[in-house]
Amino acid sequence: MRIAVLGLGAVGKGVLRVLGEKPELGLVLTGVADSTSAWIDPAGIDPQTVLDRKCETNRCGSEGRSAADILDSGAYDVLVEVTPTNAATGEPALTHIRRALGTGHHVVTSNKGPLAAAHTELEELAREQGVALRYEATVGGAIPVIHAITRGLIGNKFHSITGVLNGTCNYILTRMDDEGLTYEQALAEARQLGYAEADPTYDVRGIDAAIKLVILANTCWNLGVTLDDVSITGIDGLTVDALRLAADQDCTIRLIGEASPERGLLRVAPRVLPRSHPLVIEGTLNAVMLSTDLAGEVTLMGRGAGSIETASAIIGDLLSIRDRFVECR
Ligand SMILES: NC(=O)c1ccc[n+]([C@@H]2O[C@H](COP(=O)([O-])OP(=O)(O)OC[C@H]3O[C@@H](n4cnc5c(N)ncnc54)[C@H](OP(=O)(O)O)[C@@H]3O)[C@@H](O)[C@H]2O)c1
Repeated sequence: MRIAVLGLGAVGKGVLRVLGEKPELGLVLTGVADSTSAWIDPAGIDPQTVLDRKCETNRCGSEGRSAADILDSGAYDVLVEVTPTNAATGEPALTHIRRALGTGHHVVTSNKGPLAAAHTELEELAREQGVALRYEATVGGAIPVIHAITRGLIGNKFHSITGVLNGTCNYILTRMDDEGLTYEQALAEARQLGYAEADPTYDVRGIDAAIKLVILANTCWNLGVTLDDVSITGIDGLTVDALRLAADQDCTIRLIGEASPERGLLRVAPRVLPRSHPLVIEGTLNAVMLSTDLAGEVTLMGRGAGSIETASAIIGDLLSIRDRFVECR
């Protein structure tokens, strides 16, 4: 199966590393682009050579070529879209994904932007064209929660989804709880360790978690909800005193996303939880609890970000497309 990768940052590099280290998967790289260059070869490109070139020159291919040339070439079966997230417009990924789906190519993405902006439209386009749109890596990094909802638990009715969906916030809350750090101290530490962006607004105000909750809710119940439908409270106003009060009751505080159509609930907010609760997890981990009619409660927990961890989710999507579509053609 031929793969084109748009974006060669942490995630794109992770994907290329796996393609290089696991040739037995049968995933052949035929196109790769970053913001200033691209490389296309329908005969196949050695992933390690691309990684070396990017490291030496900060370009993955020829200057003057771009993602658009790869999309025009059509020399791929699946587009892997891993450019930066723009939650407001979804661009440039939205244009890339529309183009790939519209010309009959499968798409795998880790980019929340296009799903926040146009999930329903993109699913309809994929259906019309008889191709797949997969996005496991957009929520919970390595955790296969989308696969659990759409495949493993497919015969279930889902009552609710509850989760720790942002590792930066979970790290800050863990450190405030464990060490009595103030919010500002814990945030500074998270920045120093590379767990928080220079501008952490999206994370600490709950917006990143809310976008992930929207993706989960639309996947689970096909609600067509957007970020505007989510009630959002971040952790930036949280004091050490609030955590101390929770600790007095043998509880702690976590930023929790909750969706339940039955209860009219679509909310991201700090919640007081008993320490024994399955969603009280440490550090940058993520967790999602699915409440269902047949399976009862299923909780998935794991690394919510990272180059290779996110690549794991993308490779899972690629192989599920290969198994479902490509080999039976
Ligand atoms: N990092 C994670 O752990 C993680 C986890 C889950 C989801 N995600 C999501 O996955 C996506 C990628 O994340 P990342 O951490 O790899 O981002 P990143 O390190 O910022 O890399 C983004 C890459 O996209 C390239 N790019 C920008 N505009 C482009 C364009 N118009 N055409 C082609 N390439 C373009 C950049 O090119 P240059 O190299 O030339 O700048 C860069 O290589 C984001 O949407 C992110 O939210 C990330």
